Amino acid sequence: MSDLGWPFVTGKNTYIERADGIYLYDASGRRIMDAAGGAIVVNIGHGRQRVADAVARATLDYSYVVPPWLTPSREAMLKVLQQHWLPDYLTRVHVTSGGTEANEAAMKMALQYQQAIGESGRTRIIGRSISYHGTTLATASISGHPARKKGLESALPGYLEVAAPYPLRCPLGAHHEDTGAFYADQLRLLIEQEGPDTIAAFLAEPITGSSGGAIVPPDDYWPRAREICDEYGVVLILDEVMTGFGRTGEKFGFQHWPVQPDILVSGKGLAGGYAPLGGVFATEKIGAAIQNAGFPVMFNTFGAHPAACAAAAEVLQIMVEEDHVNRVATLGKYLQASLNNAFSNHPHVAEVRGRGLLAAIEIVRDRDDLTPYPIDDAVTNKVVGRGMERGVFYYGGGTGDVRDVVCMGPPFIISENEIDQMVETLLAAVDDVLG
Ligand SMILES: Cc1ncc(COP(=O)(O)O)c(C=O)c1O
Repeated sequence: MSDLGWPFVTGKNTYIERADGIYLYDASGRRIMDAAGGAIVVNIGHGRQRVADAVARATLDYSYVVPPWLTPSREAMLKVLQQHWLPDYLTRVHVTSGGTEANEAAMKMALQYQQAIGESGRTRIIGRSISYHGTTLATASISGHPARKKGLESALPGYLEVAAPYPLRCPLGAHHEDTGAFYADQLRLLIEQEGPDTIAAFLAEPITGSSGGAIVPPDDYWPRAREICDEYGVVLILDEVMTGFGRTGEKFGFQHWPVQPDILVSGKGLAGGYAPLGGVFATEKIGAAIQNAGFPVMFNTFGAHPAACAAAAEVLQIMVEEDHVNRVATLGKYLQASLNNAFSNHPHVAEVRGRGLLAAIEIVRDRDDLTPYPIDDAVTNKVVGRGMERGVFYYGGGTGDVRDVVCMGPPFIISENEIDQMVETLLAAVDDVLG
């Protein structure tokens, strides 16, 4: 452990003194490309003066005001959300200080909604086998992420779990044409087996983030899943903490398909890493039912912090002005092509996947039968470590069945040349580790 007693359980420490654009600088002045945008958070790049100024202004003008009240910074954020980002059917907004709290609030809203409309037996929520939703007991429990739940198993409340789409390893065969229907049917079967009148909600990431390594479901999965939720009165909560606000080349990941959530959850990119913030956006139907029943939606003390809202308002406005969503869509195609070029014949890379500027490679020992490396080989950690030595920070992912994935989520201001460097360095890091 370091002299500072931090981080809590690992002694490893990286010291970053400053950051600018897509680069981090350590204490010795060494430059590291932030190919992960931190934890896939930083979207407009580091060091934007406009954002710093907005935060400073809000801090000076009103350091803290209880979350339900308006301030100019909260009003500015809500306006830019409404005018440029949210679909018009998501009319109700609750703001937290991060993604975990936002998912927890969304789960509670779904439960309250069912109670409000008289569906008192609907007390259970379905999560997916490969997923991550947060650190609290409820969000950790519903997450399909065994690695992040170690030592907690006995204390976690139970949630229902359905298989997340994993086309590479679909039981019907890799990328089988019925993959979407297969995984949607799993949802239907689970609801029918458990009793539809006991199920309140289904919580899922539209494109699975780091737990699965940017897994994009087949095109028919989400329309089918939505239909099933409608048929059985199940609230659809989409967790876009990682995929929201342009990351995948649409404003929100679900917009790649003709589907609408009842509750949309966001975090990370909402304030682009300049401040901690999470957002829950619900339909009028959900919001009005909870309101009419007289149920509370309690705030966190630091939810919608005025300075954080100032950061979000500015970041969201900059993304609009600089047309980042379209930029990400274009650069995302370039990134996928570049990754495919580097890895499509690599003996230890089973697949390149992702959408927009959320991408990953899945590493396996045997590309033909998809056998992973033993867990003790810690291949992902080693590749990420070699990447850092070579001056690029990638985001390690995977859990459970998804053994080794290395994710990328660079700031949207990255150039094509820098994408090439990011991919070339990844290839070199993988070969450093696997020979
Ligand atoms: C999809 C998803 N949901 C929720 C969370 C939790 O958000 P936070 O770490 O801000 O609490 C994360 C964080 O990585 C995430 O990727």
